[in-house]
Amino acid sequence: SNVLATSQELHEKTGGIVPEVAARKQVESITTVISEALLNAKDHLNVEDENAVLEKIDYIAVTKGPGLIGSLVVGVEAAKALSLATEIPLIGVNHLVGHIYANWVDTKDTPELPAVVLVVSGGHTDLVLMKDHNKLEYLGGTLDDAVGEAFDKTARLLGLKKYLGGPELSNTAQACKENKMEGKLPRPKLKDDDFDFSFSGLKTAVRRIVEEKSYDLESIAKEFEVAATDVLIEKTIRAAKQNDVKTILLGGGVAANKRLRERLKEESDKLGLNLHIPNIKLCGDNATYIGAAAYFNQDVQEIKDIKANPSLGIMD
Ligand code: KG4
Ligand code: ZN
Repeated sequence: SNVLATSQELHEKTGGIVPEVAARKQVESITTVISEALLNAKDHLNVEDENAVLEKIDYIAVTKGPGLIGSLVVGVEAAKALSLATEIPLIGVNHLVGHIYANWVDTKDTPELPAVVLVVSGGHTDLVLMKDHNKLEYLGGTLDDAVGEAFDKTARLLGLKKYLGGPELSNTAQACKENKMEGKLPRPKLKDDDFDFSFSGLKTAVRRIVEEKSYDLESIAKEFEVAATDVLIEKTIRAAKQNDVKTILLGGGVAANKRLRERLKEESDKLGLNLHIPNIKLCGDNATYIGAAAYFNQDVQEIKDIKANPSLGIMD
């Protein structure tokens, strides 16, 4: 049972998230979402009503961070209340670790560990070595903008969409028949001997071209997408080779990007590496992967010790 409430349309009107507005919307919808999730689960569990569903539940999982503090607090406090009322133990899940577990949902092809994992979202870009469940080793990450943020800011610069324009930028790039801008944008840190990334220079380079006012929209979108995804792909493959692992996992909202999915698959196949990418529906933020992460890392804490933390990193 997977229920998703989104206020994306509302944020599109304001051209970005007003944190206060987002949190208020969440307060309004959270009890409905929880009730609907329980109702949907009724048939799967073959029971009468929502209360009977609750009786079958072993654990409650909740995102503790990173994210917007107002929204995190709403989720965490609602989960605590439910846990107190039902005496079902609570597990706080790291949002970024959660993204990885979308690879264990809705699939018969269970990932084999160890694996190199690339998590790409609107706020984060991380490369980690997953030795086992609960055993991550940090390899590298972005030094400035996250890749999703770079997609969104570039989409805005190009006048495609004011808020969360990553998919629109990608669609524009996919429509490009001939890239007239090939090689015109940098591939930041591509040749550096580390696993870090940097995307803010790429966005600035696009801004300079836009300011010159004569450019082909589809070509610049294509060149941006190729530059951003090439760096991600090359460094992920290099990390797999250097760490001698056979599995690569992709996760996060940007994992829905068509070029990233296809090119990473081609490069993995060339080396005989097993690539796992979540179903598109499970790439963006959703509660299913939070539940899956809790299933594999049953780190039950006392309610008082679970706190919303907006700035958690993937290793926290
Ligand atoms: O993980 P996510 O849903 O939310 C965060 O935790 O940030 O990721 C959202 C990010 C946004 O920056 C969005 O523009 C980007 O993922 N995104 C994409 C695509 N679909 C979503 N970026 C590039 N191509 C896409 N197809
Ligand atoms: Zn996310």
